[in-house]
Amino acid sequence: MAFLTWTDNLSVEIPKIDEQHKKLVELVNTLHDAMRAGHGKDILGKVLAELIDYTGYHFKTEEEAFARFGYPQADEHKKQHDALVKTALDLKGKMDSGEMMVTVETLNYLSGWVTNHIMKEDKLYTPFLKGKPV
Ligand SMILES: [Fe+2]
Ligand SMILES: [Fe+2]
Repeated sequence: MAFLTWTDNLSVEIPKIDEQHKKLVELVNTLHDAMRAGHGKDILGKVLAELIDYTGYHFKTEEEAFARFGYPQADEHKKQHDALVKTALDLKGKMDSGEMMVTVETLNYLSGWVTNHIMKEDKLYTPFLKGKPV
């Protein structure tokens, strides 16, 4: 069974962004499956690199929509994105220097990211961006 399951609770009601969030859920599940199979560390670097890459792409989508349509909470939201990127880079730094437990930390961080950021921060823009050509 997947560690995280996509449900309508996670929807921001903007199809393009929901698709990107599903990809992030998939990344969390990929890491979890590998950990359960006992080789989480083997693929951690790959998943982290993909996370950093994909979050950059995803945040750009959201921030461009904020700029295009003048979302009033854009600055606050962008700060959250910047903090998340910093944490991901810190985790990658720990992994590169061989620190232990980084796999569990990464899984906790990723699952927290998906559930908290989407459900709290991203959902705030639904009333503003819904129906707009994001
Ligand atoms: Fe998002
Ligand atoms: Fe966001």
